[in-house]
Amino acid sequence: MYISLKEAHNLLGMILLFGLFLIVMIILISFLRKKPFGKCSKITALTGLFLIHTQVSIGFILYFLSPLGKNNFSVDSMGHPISRFYLVEHPVGMILAAILITMGYSKAKKAGISSRGKYKRILICYGIAFSIIAYLIPWFLWS
Ligand code: HEM
Repeated sequence: MYISLKEAHNLLGMILLFGLFLIVMIILISFLRKKPFGKCSKITALTGLFLIHTQVSIGFILYFLSPLGKNNFSVDSMGHPISRFYLVEHPVGMILAAILITMGYSKAKKAGISSRGKYKRILICYGIAFSIIAYLIPWFLWS
């Protein structure tokens, strides 16, 4: 169970990172071409929301199963950079990224906002979320 979830979390993390990059590019092109914000743009943004919510849900379960998650919690572990990364920095930052994407999507869904306004909100929120995720993926442990 733990190994399969860890592998799913790793794979979905890469899909999410690549997917968010594509979503930001698609939204940016539509914005620059001054296209109206229609069903296609909404589905594109919704895909990012779905991916990050699924990934964060798996992350929460993993936090309770992994030897690097809750089981590793102690006063000493806060002084250890890798332990602190998995216990605090990685989860908190990723949850922040999920909140940003949720905010960007829900604002863009609202009536009474122009297409350009919707695109701008998605570009800002998804763009910042992408940077946070790219920064908090544990690349340093794989080198
Ligand atoms: C956008 C959201 C997230 C992304 C892209 C992401 C990505 C990743 C990646 C790529 C790994 C390395 C997996 C491996 O070495 O095989 C990892 C590990 C881990 N993540 Fe996340 N994560 C996210 C959210 C979360 C959240 C919200 C939590 C906890 C609440 C979490 C908890 C963990 C834990 C505990 C590990 C260590 C697993 C282990 O090696 O035992 N993640 N994450």
